[in-house]
Amino acid sequence: MKNILTVKNLTTHYDTPQGPARAVENVSFTVKKGEMLGLIGESGCGKTTVAQSILRLIEYPGKIVTGEVDLDGKDLVNAKTSELEKIRWKDIAVIPQSAMNALNPVYSIGDQIIESILLHENISRKEALNRTKTLLELVGIDKDRWKSYPHEFSGGMKQRVAIAMALSCSPKLIISDESTTGLDVLTQAQVIALMKDLQRKLDLSIIIISHDLPLVTSICDRIAIMYAGKIVEWAGTSNILQDARHPYSKGLLDATPDLANPEKKVVSIPGTVPNLVSPPEGCRFRDRCQYAMETCAAAEPELVAVKSEHYVSCFLEKGAKYVL
Ligand SMILES: Nc1ncnc2c1ncn2[C@@H]1O[C@H](COP(=O)(O)OP(=O)(O)OP(=O)(O)O)[C@@H](O)[C@H]1O
Ligand code: SF4
Ligand SMILES: [Mg+2]
Repeated sequence: MKNILTVKNLTTHYDTPQGPARAVENVSFTVKKGEMLGLIGESGCGKTTVAQSILRLIEYPGKIVTGEVDLDGKDLVNAKTSELEKIRWKDIAVIPQSAMNALNPVYSIGDQIIESILLHENISRKEALNRTKTLLELVGIDKDRWKSYPHEFSGGMKQRVAIAMALSCSPKLIISDESTTGLDVLTQAQVIALMKDLQRKLDLSIIIISHDLPLVTSICDRIAIMYAGKIVEWAGTSNILQDARHPYSKGLLDATPDLANPEKKVVSIPGTVPNLVSPPEGCRFRDRCQYAMETCAAAEPELVAVKSEHYVSCFLEKGAKYVL
C-alpha cells in the first residue's frame, strides 16, 4: 500500500530558560493510504508536538530543528506558508482535543461547516450547504439539524460535528489528537466507531493520538509507541499485543486492565517521564527500565527492524540488523 505520509528524523525542540526541551527527536514513521495509525505514550512524550510539527503549527518557543515530512509528494517542512494554508484542511485536517468546545456559539453548526468549506474551495454556497448536509448524515446527525446551534447538541454530537468539519474538504489524512478525551466512555466508543467506519468507507488515513492503549488497539492497524520524545516501538497492532518487545511497551500493556481477563494483575510502570531539557544520557527509558545495562547509559538505541514492519529501539534487540 502507498504511503500517504512519511516522517523522517523529525526533531522539534522548545527553547526554555534552562536550555532546549528536546520534545521530539529523530522520529520516523509512515502512514499508508487507508491506514489508521495509533500514536500513543504517556503525557509529555511528544505526541502533540509530532502532530503540530507535521502541520508546521509549532510556534515560538518551539522550532523544527530538522527532519522531513512528506505528504503524498509534498514537502511540508519546506513548503511556503501560503502553500501550507492550502494543504491544511484540504489535505490534512486535525481534530484537536478541544474541537467540540471550539465551535462558535453564535453560528449554527451548518453555517460553520459551510464557512470552512468556502474558505478552502471555490464552490457556491448552495453546493457547500448540500455537502454539509451529506457530511452531517455521514457522521450520524440528521441533515435538517444544520441550522441548530452548538448549545443544542450533546458533547458526542459536537464531536461528530468536529469530525464532519474535518472531513469537509475531503482530506487525505486526519489527525485526531485526544479528540474523544473528556467524553463519557459510551460516547467515546461511539465516536471512535464512527471514525473507523468513515476510515473504511472513505479509504481515509487517520492518526489517532491517545494515551489510551485499549482504545488504540481496538481500532488501529498499526501502533507507534512514543517515550520521552522518541518512538520506541512501531508495529502492527497484533504484533504489539502479542509480541511487544520494548520494555516500555510491555510496561504499558501490563498497566492496562483486560476486561476479558479480570484476573490479570495490573502493574503500573514506576517513575515518570523525564524532563526533556535534561533526559537521561543514552536510552531515555533507562531510569525506569528493569533491564537497563551499562550500554544503555553509553549510547542511544536506534529504531531497528526486528522483523518485517516491526521496529524497536532497545539494546536488548541484539539480532536486529537494519536501521529504518
Ligand atoms: N511551549 C512549550 N515550551 C516548553 N516545553 C514545551 C512546550 N510545549 C510542550 N513542551 C514540552 O514538550 C514535551 C512534549 O509535549 P507534548 O504536548 O507534545 O506531549 P504530549 O505527548 O502531547 O502530552 P499530553 O498527552 O499531555 O497531551 C513535554 O515535555 C512538554 O513539557
Ligand atoms: S535500551 Fe536498555 S534501558 Fe533502554 S529500554 Fe532497552 S534495556 Fe531498557
Ligand atoms: Mg498532547
